[in-house]
Amino acid sequence: MSDDVVRTETDLPDAASTRALGAALAGVLRAGDLVILTGDLGAGKTTLTQGLGAALGVRGQVASPTFIVAREHPPLPREDGTRGPALVHVDAYRLGDLSELDALDLDSSLDESVTVVEWGRGLAEALTDERLEIDLERPRGGVGDDTDAELDAGAGTRRAVLRGVGARWADVDLAALLP
Ligand SMILES: Nc1ncnc2c1ncn2[C@@H]1O[C@H](COP(=O)(O)OP(=O)(O)O)[C@@H](O)[C@H]1O
Ligand SMILES: [Mg+2]
Repeated sequence: MSDDVVRTETDLPDAASTRALGAALAGVLRAGDLVILTGDLGAGKTTLTQGLGAALGVRGQVASPTFIVAREHPPLPREDGTRGPALVHVDAYRLGDLSELDALDLDSSLDESVTVVEWGRGLAEALTDERLEIDLERPRGGVGDDTDAELDAGAGTRRAVLRGVGARWADVDLAALLP
């Protein structure tokens, strides 16, 4: 059934463990997959994507996509000459609807990319009913403005909840990915 859900959760004590979770995801993600990252500013969505990008072996620095809607990271050739999927990193905050992704005129099609969307809650269904949702929560998240002091105040453990939705994820052992 397409709305089957596999679910697991964990604490991420520091940014390195959030990055490690992203890196572990590289071992299961493949072209065409969609990851929806939800969480307040500073929750670690970009940090997780950096770990993923490094482990996938894509070109370019993964950074906050705040000033552009989507950034593409093409795959670098591996030692054996093969390439993995591209990484498309999207700030859904600036999209009305994920169907707009199709209109972005990306060099790599979503079919040949792993697509990671920050802030995607409520938008995912418009694109596909198969997705990996990761919610990142700061214990004191949602405090308000985004000064360094506020981010520092939220430094430390995040709670991560992973939900694989759809047949794609039915046989994936999400718990095995946890750092
Ligand atoms: N457990 C943690 N997981 C992720 N980031 C953390 C954690 N603890 C502290 N941080 C820090 O919080 C910030 C998270 O920023 P970022 O990944 O850009 O968040 P977002 O993309 O959700 O706005 C980084 O400065 C990171 O070093
Ligand atoms: Mg971010």
